Amino acid sequence: MKLSANKATLSFSNGKPNIDLPVYEGTVGPDVIDIRKLYGQSGMFTYDPGFLSTASCQSAITYIDGDKGELLYRGYPIEQLATQCDFMETCHLLLYGNLPNAKAKADFTKRVTNHTMVSEQMQFFLRGFRRDAHPMAIMTGLVGALSAFYHDSTDINNPEHRDISALRLIAKMPTLVAMAYKYSIGQPYMYPQNNLSYAGNFMRMMFATPCDDYKVNPVIERAMDRIFILHADHEQNASTSTVRLCGSSGTNPFAAIAAGVACLWGPAHGGANEACLNMLGEIQKMGGIEKVGHFMEQVKDKNSGVKLMGFGHRVYKNYDPRAKLMQETCKEVLGALGLEKDPLFKLAMALEKIALEDDYFVSRKLYPNVDFYSGIVQRAIGIPVNMFTGVFALARTVGWIAQLNEMISDPEYKIGRPRQLFTGSVKRDVLPIAKR
Ligand code: SDX
Repeated sequence: MKLSANKATLSFSNGKPNIDLPVYEGTVGPDVIDIRKLYGQSGMFTYDPGFLSTASCQSAITYIDGDKGELLYRGYPIEQLATQCDFMETCHLLLYGNLPNAKAKADFTKRVTNHTMVSEQMQFFLRGFRRDAHPMAIMTGLVGALSAFYHDSTDINNPEHRDISALRLIAKMPTLVAMAYKYSIGQPYMYPQNNLSYAGNFMRMMFATPCDDYKVNPVIERAMDRIFILHADHEQNASTSTVRLCGSSGTNPFAAIAAGVACLWGPAHGGANEACLNMLGEIQKMGGIEKVGHFMEQVKDKNSGVKLMGFGHRVYKNYDPRAKLMQETCKEVLGALGLEKDPLFKLAMALEKIALEDDYFVSRKLYPNVDFYSGIVQRAIGIPVNMFTGVFALARTVGWIAQLNEMISDPEYKIGRPRQLFTGSVKRDVLPIAKR
């Protein structure tokens, strides 16, 4: 980051001396006011719950321009990556900062492929769960449990450990997600097949059985791969910030990623695709498009607590570019499967049209986000609704790792430890219980 010629000066109306704060510039996007010395110089903290105006770090990985609806991974527009590259190239880009040439891509893919199996012991870990456990409950457990199996790659401060644990996590997430699914439906696990693509291997582990193999449909395989690309990273979102904060204590990479899985599960974050599809199903049950107006009234009524899931975003105040690409993928997949008339897709398109013309949404700059269409395309592929967030976690693992490794490699990083504005009781003495 570059020191700006501009400077910020904080003045106080109570006569306390002014404080000069340096301003730093990035390569693109808002400058930052460096407040690291503020407490030492003023005895005061800044206050920003939800971090609406706070940069927690400097990063060179992903950039979002929320006003333009622009998303860049290491400078490359998501539209180009999603149409000209595959997920393995995107992983290489996010982890190492450049798109691989053919040889580097083949080497990287081979290294990932060779780590797709998990320890056989994992099956016994799964058996501890109820069959109807939510797959994200299982995933939170399984990912954390990886730190019990790979003691040779748990030192986050060792670059070799960081490299091998990155490959292990990227390679094993599809296997673990598929195992969580198979466990929930009482089917045997399918082992990875090294001759399949990353996306094709995942789909086979999800849908094949020992009695019936699964033939990967190239259109669906490409769609799955694109879903992974679109979900791979997204600046300092809640789960990435969780991974950074967790990793800042020096814990092992598997534990830090497990924390990210747990955070992503929430319906305001990665759980929104599952919530969105359930919402569309509810509207369909109520009567479909005719009932959209009634549903929108509920959304606008603050007391209802009803939100239009898959809409709105902390950063995008324009259309989420991923939502556009996901809508196109929806059309491709539904077309390939002869499901063009999928009622939920038609309902989603109608809902989007109505929302984008409604002042409630327009005035609040609420647009579809990545979760609005992703559920429809995953459902068309055959992925059950309660697995959607697991797929999101699978794809986001590479982004979490890239961000974690960037933090650990930053000589300036410290353990994250925010302060607070205390509004509780001042010091008081305990009274004996007889006098309370
Ligand atoms: C992801 O951060 C990331 O990058 C996340 C993500 C990633 O890739 O990592 O992009 C993935 O999490 C996408 C978001 C998925 N979540 C949803 O679709 C759930 C529905 N969306 C909302 O919960 C909400 O929009 C958030 C959580 C996404 C953003 O919340 P903010 O920025 O805190 O905005 P807000 O809640 O303060 O909303 C501003 C206004 C409020 O109304 P007013 O108080 O100003 O009157 O907009 C309203 C909100 O009530 N609003 C909505 C709404 N989202 C915001 N009203 C109805 N439906 C919605 N979906």
